[in-house]
Amino acid sequence: MPAAATATPDKIKDANTRYHDAAAATYDAKWGIDYGSVGQGQVRAKLAKALGEPPNPFGEALEIGAGTGYFSLNLLQLGLIGRSTATDISPGMLETLAARAVALGLEAEAVVAEAERLPFGDRSFDLVFGHAVLHHIPDLRRAFGEFYRVLRPGGVIAFCGEPSRHGDRIAALPKRVGLLAAPIWRRAVGASAAGPSINGPGDDHELEFEVDVHAFAPDELRELLRAAGFGEARLQGEELLASAHGWLVRTLEATAEPAEVPNGWRNFAFRSYMTLQRVDADLLEPRLPPELFYNLVLSARRPG
Ligand SMILES: C[S@@+](CC[C@H](N)C(=O)[O-])C[C@H]1O[C@@H](n2cnc3c(N)ncnc32)[C@H](O)[C@@H]1O
Repeated sequence: MPAAATATPDKIKDANTRYHDAAAATYDAKWGIDYGSVGQGQVRAKLAKALGEPPNPFGEALEIGAGTGYFSLNLLQLGLIGRSTATDISPGMLETLAARAVALGLEAEAVVAEAERLPFGDRSFDLVFGHAVLHHIPDLRRAFGEFYRVLRPGGVIAFCGEPSRHGDRIAALPKRVGLLAAPIWRRAVGASAAGPSINGPGDDHELEFEVDVHAFAPDELRELLRAAGFGEARLQGEELLASAHGWLVRTLEATAEPAEVPNGWRNFAFRSYMTLQRVDADLLEPRLPPELFYNLVLSARRPG
């Protein structure tokens, strides 16, 4: 749900920093982020979808809004990027990323930076990429100008997991169903209701609804790429059934005490999500227009 129309760019960026700092420690668990073969497979598939072909390794890569490292660290493990510079507006998210990189034995430079003002020289990177970040950025024209500036001629821009306008609307339905069904679901799995705030007062979780600024129509993203100077854009839709399922599950789980949600339920939810993701990818994504899906993925090249 986009932030209020009265929110200024500075307020939006401040809300993003505080919200993601507060979320950093539990972020991977909340979103089921994995750094083993499952996570690597997901990230490879998403990048391939954005590029329209299986990815070849890139040399210098810059991630925007890298968070805890879902894309950067998995791409490093896959050998699909040579050197990683991971940026984010939230120092807390990057601290988690840096600790995870050490635990995985990876080298990733972490730099606190906002997308609209990148502290890097012109033509520094072969790949600029991100996952689920564009919709948080107030001034997208300026940010796309920066992405173009820091890319080498011939370099590639690729973003995945951006909410489509239609998808944003349809996500409201599983969320409503989840809230209605929550008491029955909690009884069925034997979990009690969560307290008013899972992490206690002052945890900044009330900012959840202030951090999202955009949901996109495919043509808006094409226009941003074109205006920044990029060549022909590639755009595709991603996840319909899987995202509805994901919102339903997250809504249900958010109403229960986390420690009381049984592992059997979590395994079932994860396996059914993966099955629906395959149905989306194999049957729906090749046949339906991008705007129908929950997410959009995109790529383009800086002309050589
Ligand atoms: C939804 S999270 C996604 C994190 C990670 N890419 C992932 O897929 O797990 C969005 C990330 O974008 C960062 N972010 C928000 N606004 C930003 C901005 N203006 N510039 C750079 N990063 C930003 C947030 O701090 C957060 O880590």
